[in-house]
Amino acid sequence: MARNIVISGGGTGIGLAAARVFAADGDRVLLLGRRREVLERAGVPGAEVYAADLAEPAQVRGVARFVAEEFGAVDVLVHSAGGSAADANTGADDPLDAAARVWTGDFRQNTLTSVLLTEALKDRLADPGGRVLFISSVAAFRGSGSGSYAAAKAALHPYAHDLARQLGPRGVTVNVVAPGYVEDTDFFGGPVARERRERLVAETSTGRAGTPGDVAATLHWLASPAAGHVTSQIIQVNGGAERGH
Ligand SMILES: NC(=O)c1ccc[n+]([C@@H]2O[C@H](COP(=O)([O-])OP(=O)(O)OC[C@H]3O[C@@H](n4cnc5c(N)ncnc54)[C@H](OP(=O)(O)O)[C@@H]3O)[C@@H](O)[C@H]2O)c1
Repeated sequence: MARNIVISGGGTGIGLAAARVFAADGDRVLLLGRRREVLERAGVPGAEVYAADLAEPAQVRGVARFVAEEFGAVDVLVHSAGGSAADANTGADDPLDAAARVWTGDFRQNTLTSVLLTEALKDRLADPGGRVLFISSVAAFRGSGSGSYAAAKAALHPYAHDLARQLGPRGVTVNVVAPGYVEDTDFFGGPVARERRERLVAETSTGRAGTPGDVAATLHWLASPAAGHVTSQIIQVNGGAERGH
């Protein structure tokens, strides 16, 4: 039977790859992101779109209303919205102002987007059988340079554990996928310099970059009945990069 799938950050990268995998099953997909034109251009067959900044409670309330009217229940909630706020300190003269901007930006983009959308939709999750899937990062285990992106992702881990305990009795599972370096996304805002790419690939045991399809396949499995007894887990899809060499 077709399921209702809500995917934040569904217009690009990992979220878009996940949307295509679920749509190929005949599922009904809702793509969320801030830029409506990006969602509309994504070209996922049959997908509906709703543009909102998911770090803003008022806009998330709008998403919840749309979902209630158009979808009713949510079978699978995929949180792919996120990114690095490393550029947010541009223009800040004072180092504390810069730190505050970057840490707040990373928290809003990676933690708050996932928390607000979950809180808005959790009562609509199909029970039994509902799925909540967060996207963290290998950075949550190893750091990310500034620390703030990694910390914002790591915050999702205990939230997922609490949610898994809360929603488990309803037959809903909650899991986190932690990718490493994934190519063909908008995450890096343009091409990655050759040396940086080589360094990131060298950290893996598989000797290659991740693809959005790698992450989408894991999300698809976690959303399947086959993964019904898997909950409160952080699944790393990063070619072993967390272990390094
Ligand atoms: N690519 C990697 O190497 C990598 C590695 C580890 C983890 N990740 C994580 O994987 C997830 C997907 O990223 P990606 O690699 O697919 O990059 P991406 O192509 O940049 O996708 C991120 C998506 O999130 C949306 N988004 C960002 N902030 C939002 C907000 N406040 N409200 C609503 N939507 C928002 C963006 O659309 P709008 O700009 O239109 O809002 C965009 O479609 C992210 O959480 C990222 O942190 C990526």
